Amino acid sequence: MLDTQLTVRRNAPIGKISPRLYGHFAEHLARCCYDGLWIGNQSTDIPHIGGFRTDVVKALKAMPVPMLRWPGGCYADHYHWRDGIGEPGSRPKRLGMSCGLQVEDDNSLGTHEFMALCQLLGAEPYLAGNMGSGSVQEMCDWMEYCNTALSTSLGQERVANGSPQPFGVKLWGVGNENWGCGGNYDAESYAHEYRRYATMLRHVDPSAELVACGQLDPWNQTFLQTNQRHLELIDHLSVHYYWLQSGTELDFSEEQYYALLAEAESTEDFVRRTADYVREALGSKTHKIGIALDEWGVWHPEARSWGPNNHLHRKPDTYEQAGTLRDALAVGIALEGFHHQCTVLSLANLAQIVNVLHAPVMTDGAAMWLTPSYYALQLHIPHIGANALPVEVVQGTAIPVGEVSFAAVSGTASEQAGGVAVTLINRHFDQPAAITLHVPGTSQATRAQLLTSDSPRAINSAQFPDQVALVPLTVGADGNGTWRVELPAHSMATIQLV
Ligand code: AHR
Repeated sequence: MLDTQLTVRRNAPIGKISPRLYGHFAEHLARCCYDGLWIGNQSTDIPHIGGFRTDVVKALKAMPVPMLRWPGGCYADHYHWRDGIGEPGSRPKRLGMSCGLQVEDDNSLGTHEFMALCQLLGAEPYLAGNMGSGSVQEMCDWMEYCNTALSTSLGQERVANGSPQPFGVKLWGVGNENWGCGGNYDAESYAHEYRRYATMLRHVDPSAELVACGQLDPWNQTFLQTNQRHLELIDHLSVHYYWLQSGTELDFSEEQYYALLAEAESTEDFVRRTADYVREALGSKTHKIGIALDEWGVWHPEARSWGPNNHLHRKPDTYEQAGTLRDALAVGIALEGFHHQCTVLSLANLAQIVNVLHAPVMTDGAAMWLTPSYYALQLHIPHIGANALPVEVVQGTAIPVGEVSFAAVSGTASEQAGGVAVTLINRHFDQPAAITLHVPGTSQATRAQLLTSDSPRAINSAQFPDQVALVPLTVGADGNGTWRVELPAHSMATIQLV
């Protein structure tokens, strides 16, 4: 049994955990948008709300989805928004392209449908614009169509298509991965192109927030330096971080289990390093540029033809992968980092929302099930919009992973409306942990839930949808704000205290 003592520092708040850090990503890729979310108004077998699967909408709402990025990904740089408005029957059928897949895309899920989905979910929309095969004018027109309150032709067209009120979309991506699928730009050319797009977009809606494409060093430095005199045109810098060191999706070894968790932990460092470049570029300027981690999560080798262990690549390419309890723990570890970096990380989107990659929700025909990662996200509900608090490991065990090591038991905490929520993760592969938790000023545990299973390889499936789910956790009180819990190996829990 691991013996751990943790203290929540209520007197040293880190900052506000924006709901945007709990964003999601829906791309027209494989069965994410079409089939997973959208089944269209013609379908009669599966219940739907305005074309979106009722079961999926209900599950996502309860997850929740504070913000949703669409329509890509790589798909965005081929997408022409006009194809997806107007009478569904008269919309063109295009070649839908992303990540090597080609499909017939009937554009039945377009701008108005996406906005309706956001409304159903209570999600803020985040639109990714087309720089790769589009034009400045095309992106400006989309922004005008969505956001103008004036009776311009585009404004009137939106009204005629059923939306009298502007959509008021704040977040706009100016391209996606433009160092790769979005045009293979070099950093300097993208910087020039970005400046032109951003200048014109600002004229259309000065209140919109523009997301520029970032990557690693030296792209970020060159991009920011090239735009040194125009940094106010950049509101967020987009970076993507996929975890690739997982071995296999299901049958991983203990070493691979820890390798994935260590990679999830390194997400924070990646965000911090990106924020350092931005801070350096901004110097004494008061303008803020947030880090937009608008794609993150695990990408198992079975679902990709590149990267480590790609010999495991499964054909045909569906971008679907098994989501185990290990993946859910990795989500929790990443979220700890997001809370630590909440003053510089402005938004984040798990990739992707249904059926693709690190999906919290899966479907197969009429069946729907929730992956363990879904429950990991649900455990974090009390942190959304709260003030992040540091959690100090006063006593614990370190687990060596390659050249680094991490605490076997870690935690993240937040405070809102007088209550404190603490999420704890026992990362140990096979040892339970006895935890003493000190949270000054608390006297009552109002709710405690645990995500656990006999094996870190546990999954849910169409046949067994409830193998892994949340269960109540017993919390012992020692008085004086000291609490005792026991966490099984490879588990996660949230305790709410007042
Ligand atoms: O999420 C799948 C793909 O990963 C996205 O289309 C792209 O942006 C990234 O490379």
